[in-house]
Amino acid sequence: MSLIKLIDFKLLGDERGHLTVLEANKNIPFEIRRVYYLTGTLPGVSRGFHAHKELEQIAVCVSGKCRMLLDDGKQKEETWLDSPTKAMRIQKMVWHEMHDFSDDCVLLVLANEHYDEADYIRDYQRFLSEIGR
Ligand code: TYD
Repeated sequence: MSLIKLIDFKLLGDERGHLTVLEANKNIPFEIRRVYYLTGTLPGVSRGFHAHKELEQIAVCVSGKCRMLLDDGKQKEETWLDSPTKAMRIQKMVWHEMHDFSDDCVLLVLANEHYDEADYIRDYQRFLSEIGR
């Protein structure tokens, strides 16, 4: 089964431009408790390099693009997030890394819980041991 789970947001809009709608428990499969976004990521910078014990997230580049790598300890898969209608689920206990941010990248993330540093696993060896491989 593929690690990469994409959600296609419907592109609404008209002759004035585009509009995309995200709604909890509709096209977002959870109750949204936090929204954050990454902007101004400097050239050559990669981010992420962690997994979450419980947190569920959805990531979408509302502008620009970045390359998202997912790793469940068994397989690694990657894809470009390069459209405001192409969102990716980042499920719990999946190591994730973001690379190759474009200058105009705005990476929007929706999360089902408030920020909690205790939910992070930032050490890759610990991640591997916690998933029992
Ligand atoms: P971090 O999650 O480490 O960034 P990334 O994995 O995307 O590279 O977060 C960077 C810093 O911001 C870290 O000190 C924690 C803080 N932070 C919050 O305070 N609240 C949040 O919701 C997030 C995502 C991060």
